Amino acid sequence: MAKDTFYTAVDIGTDKVTSVMARVGSEGELKILGTGVVPSEGIQRGRIDNIDEVQATVQASLEEAQRYIGKGVLTGVYSSVSGNHISCLNTKEMIENLGDVGDISTQMLDRLLRGSFPELNPGQEVLHVIPIGYQVDGMTGVRNPVGLHGSHVEVEAHVVLGDAAVLKNTVKVIESNKATVKSLVLHSLASAEATLTGDEREMGVVLADIGAGTTDVIIYRQGNPWYSAVIPVGGNQLTRDLSVALRSSVYMAEEMKIKWGSVNPETVPADEEVVIPSFQGEPKRVISRRELAEPLNDRMSEILKLVLMKVRQAGLRELPTGGLVLTGGGADIAGLAGLVHKMLGVPVRIAHPEGISGLPVQLRKPAFSAAVGLLLWGIKHQGEIQSSFLNGDRSKVGHKSWRWGLGKKQQERRRVKVG
Ligand SMILES: Nc1ncnc2c1ncn2[C@@H]1O[C@H](COP(=O)(O)OP(=O)(O)O)[C@@H](O)[C@H]1O
Ligand SMILES: [Mg+2]
Repeated sequence: MAKDTFYTAVDIGTDKVTSVMARVGSEGELKILGTGVVPSEGIQRGRIDNIDEVQATVQASLEEAQRYIGKGVLTGVYSSVSGNHISCLNTKEMIENLGDVGDISTQMLDRLLRGSFPELNPGQEVLHVIPIGYQVDGMTGVRNPVGLHGSHVEVEAHVVLGDAAVLKNTVKVIESNKATVKSLVLHSLASAEATLTGDEREMGVVLADIGAGTTDVIIYRQGNPWYSAVIPVGGNQLTRDLSVALRSSVYMAEEMKIKWGSVNPETVPADEEVVIPSFQGEPKRVISRRELAEPLNDRMSEILKLVLMKVRQAGLRELPTGGLVLTGGGADIAGLAGLVHKMLGVPVRIAHPEGISGLPVQLRKPAFSAAVGLLLWGIKHQGEIQSSFLNGDRSKVGHKSWRWGLGKKQQERRRVKVG
């Protein structure tokens, strides 16, 4: 009988650290064993700023998740990475003149994929190399060439790069909690796992996870991730703008935003009023909810324009037919779908993790898409090769030294930059 498998996800966000522990039973059934959500300290716009503070937060969140299950269950961790140090490119790698080598094997594809590791700038490291399509003897759009016979195999891959120090710090934070890292996963890729439908991925879709300090964008085309980027602006900026507009504390502005805020002033009834409590000697005031919505509308429109700018940078003139999917805590604000529709006129969906049986209701919120997605990523990619920085030995992965004895011509590589 197949054994149960345990998974741990640690989503390190600017606003909160979420740990989720789960068990997948022999029949594939998912059971969430524990969840720990702790306010973040030491994260600035998605990246680790103060490692000691982050270590303590991750520890608190893991302990909360382990409350009812004991420490024994803590296994390899899937942890998220965000921040505007993230960049991407799409590469093409090929092997020619396979001749009588025979059918294309999994090992061959692994090697081909490892060959897709690009030359890195100093301080850069590879976070993901995701195959997005194969070509066998001129036949394009091959999804899985294993078992096919061919003499020329080409793979196109989506490569995500990050700052080596940031990635190492993330590993350090997890390891300081006596856990090992199974994989670091790009935050938007995790969110996509929990929210995007197969149809959306096939049609092409833009996913934006609006967190506290970042908006993490990922574009899918023909079923695969094709472009990813991180915009260093998120929901906290709406709060800050509101606190300036209201001359209130940030804490109060956050409460106001969540309780009464909207990013679509036109849809707020003109006669609705809210009370702004007294602050720094100023008496309490009454303002219209529409007035409250104005700065929120301005900032959210700005974020949406930045998302659109990334879509253009990716080389697309317009949004793909799957439209725009928004998730992350920042997407929970009232009026967002209406605003997108008015601004961009494209299909829009505010998404949270769904369609996953066994998922507790408190995790079915946009703010938990990445944490849930990390688990799903782990379940789907269990046992796959890990990025080079975790293996420690760079000579083993990627780079020319690793090629498998092909001639110079066969080693020729073409790298295609996105955008
Ligand atoms: N109901 C809500 N309405 C408006 N904003 C919200 C709501 N819930 C959460 N947010 C905002 O979402 C952001 C946090 O999103 P989250 O995805 O949890 O962040 P992170 O992943 O960066 O920790 C904060 O800026 C918070 O103000
Ligand atoms: Mg997040």
